[in-house]
Amino acid sequence: MTTLPLAAPTDFGDRCFKSALVLVTNACNLRCRHCFVYREETPNRPRDKMDDATVLYQLRVLRDRHGIRSMLFMGGEPMIRRDLVLKAMQLFEQSQIVTNGTYGIPSVPGHLVTVSLDGPPAANDALRGEGVFDKVKKSVHARDPEDGTTVMLQMTITRNNAATVREFVETVTDWPVDGIAFTFYVPRREDDSGLDWRDLQQRDRVLDEIVTLKKTYPQITTNPGALQRMRSDVAIDSTGRHGENCVLKEDMLPLYIGEQGCFERTYCCYGNDVDCSRCGAYAVFNSAYHRSLPDAAA
Ligand SMILES: C[S@@+](CC[C@H](N)C(=O)[O-])C[C@H]1O[C@@H](n2cnc3c(N)ncnc32)[C@H](O)[C@@H]1O
Ligand code: SF4
Ligand code: SF4
Repeated sequence: MTTLPLAAPTDFGDRCFKSALVLVTNACNLRCRHCFVYREETPNRPRDKMDDATVLYQLRVLRDRHGIRSMLFMGGEPMIRRDLVLKAMQLFEQSQIVTNGTYGIPSVPGHLVTVSLDGPPAANDALRGEGVFDKVKKSVHARDPEDGTTVMLQMTITRNNAATVREFVETVTDWPVDGIAFTFYVPRREDDSGLDWRDLQQRDRVLDEIVTLKKTYPQITTNPGALQRMRSDVAIDSTGRHGENCVLKEDMLPLYIGEQGCFERTYCCYGNDVDCSRCGAYAVFNSAYHRSLPDAAA
């Protein structure tokens, strides 16, 4: 029997990307209200699939072509393809997984696993679905905290769950994790979800609250310097109206599974329809902060 050659990856040019993110599947067992993956304009059809051998081959080619050193594995829900993720992680110097935590927490010594939880039970479940908080709590408590995996909880703050940040931290403070991280909602241009801040000034008080909380809860990893850059009067400097100042857009190649199972790149990691002028992606502001330091590499 002859085997067909594996399909070559899409040509994304030959520029270098230090890092990339890959959706290993368009499938997810949840349908969170805020999720950018399931927006109309984003490649996300469950019938667009790639088999394991093709994903591994294409990731290897893209790694070598673009000099990718660090890969973030997500989806959809990446743990739906756990075996593939564990194999693909070996291709990169650094790998991390972002998971909804409902399939258990993967044990990947030496790597980072970010577990999404968007508030205390009621607030989380209003976004992520009934009973999800308890499932994730069970998964986190079932893990072996000595297994060498760095596990972080990450709350995505929206206008709706913003008032629960303190309660969230108080709820999870004794959990067996290595830290608590925050990021903020990235809206669409014509966002009608009710989860966005029309006026970023209203978001500023949440930034202040995190800085205050960090003094009592050192497991909060959020960098106050990044939050400072997120403030309404200066946020646009790190993003630009259309992402022209965005370090994340420049440095990270987003690999979504598009039509007929080919990797497709989107406008940015957050898909195709994004309002950069109101972006809440912590990584954007943290990267801008680090780049602004006097000893940052050119
Ligand atoms: C798209 S999910 C994929 C991985 C996995 N299913 C999960 O929920 O962690 C990755 C992260 O993006 C966050 N996210 C989803 N939609 C967002 C949005 N519109 N703005 C900011 N973050 C968002 C989620 O809360 C989650 O932490
Ligand atoms: S679990 Fe993750 S991928 Fe699935 S809908 Fe929620 S945020 Fe999106
Ligand atoms: S939405 Fe945010 S991450 Fe995406 S390009 Fe705009 S500023 Fe950058």
